[in-house]
Amino acid sequence: MNVLPTGAAGHLGYYACRTLTEAGHTVRATDKEFRADLPVRVEIADLLDRPACYRLMEGVEAVVHLGNHSTFRGRDAQRVFNENMAMNMNIFQAAAEAGVKKIIFASSVQVISGNHEEHKPRAADGLPYLPLDGDVPPDPGNPYALSKQLGEIMLAYFTRQAGIVCVAIRLPWLVDDDHLGRIKSNPRRNPGARGEGFTFLHFQDAATLVDAVLRAPLIGFRIYFPASRDNRLCRSPAEVIREHFADTPLRRPLEQIDSLVDISGIERETGWLPKFSTLP
Ligand SMILES: NC(=O)c1ccc[n+]([C@@H]2O[C@H](COP(=O)([O-])OP(=O)(O)OC[C@H]3O[C@@H](n4cnc5c(N)ncnc54)[C@H](O)[C@@H]3O)[C@@H](O)[C@H]2O)c1
Repeated sequence: MNVLPTGAAGHLGYYACRTLTEAGHTVRATDKEFRADLPVRVEIADLLDRPACYRLMEGVEAVVHLGNHSTFRGRDAQRVFNENMAMNMNIFQAAAEAGVKKIIFASSVQVISGNHEEHKPRAADGLPYLPLDGDVPPDPGNPYALSKQLGEIMLAYFTRQAGIVCVAIRLPWLVDDDHLGRIKSNPRRNPGARGEGFTFLHFQDAATLVDAVLRAPLIGFRIYFPASRDNRLCRSPAEVIREHFADTPLRRPLEQIDSLVDISGIERETGWLPKFSTLP
């Protein structure tokens, strides 16, 4: 498939470009920054430049849209929100007009977590139910999270209006091998956000999911919430629920919950399962 990853020079972009190239896709990578260690050349473009976005779509069948401000921490609210919205609209509208068939969008767990700062949940935060999945109602707590929620709404629109298959992936905290090692060696030092269900996912698993979504015969609009089977506390789901989510409604009996996130829908539709975890 001819695939355009935006944000290709970023952390996830690196894993995505490598994985998609190895999987046999024709990858046209773009970012506003140069990066030399990718398997493909990075085409430099600013996604705020509308004509540039049209040029990027030539010959493209699927867009993997990762290029955004990727955090709110320490940044200007209007800039993060306005620029993410502009990048998303420039890419989605150009894709629709160019006849792109599928769009995958890097949304965020922050759409649901109500975090006004990373790792500092609102006092009243609470999860609507456990295990979590892609149907959890939005509760954005900062302008970055709000831009991600609106990105999801935009994609539902582009599915309805342009017939594009669109998948928003609410990515949890993405980790590399070093992070994973630190969680394993000292989980208590890495409790993470309770409002995010103590979730995480290895960058490689996120990249593999992108490939699985590209290959899957999906229709319509989807929101996926993928996560590692285990949690940042490195404890059993039952222990974490008893200690941190005693009042949260459970969708099945406690003894039947093997993870704080239910990824069975993603597996059923794409065949994807995460490989990296803190478990031995
Ligand atoms: N890393 C995480 O834990 C995490 C969690 C949830 C969601 N996400 C989302 O996943 C995506 C990738 O995350 P990441 O960790 O690789 O982020 P990153 O910041 O490393 O990469 C983002 C890339 O987007 C590019 N970009 C930003 N503005 C641009 C513009 N105007 N024009 C062109 N390119 C531009 C940047 O140059 C950068 O290379 C982001 O959309 C992020 O919001 C990441």
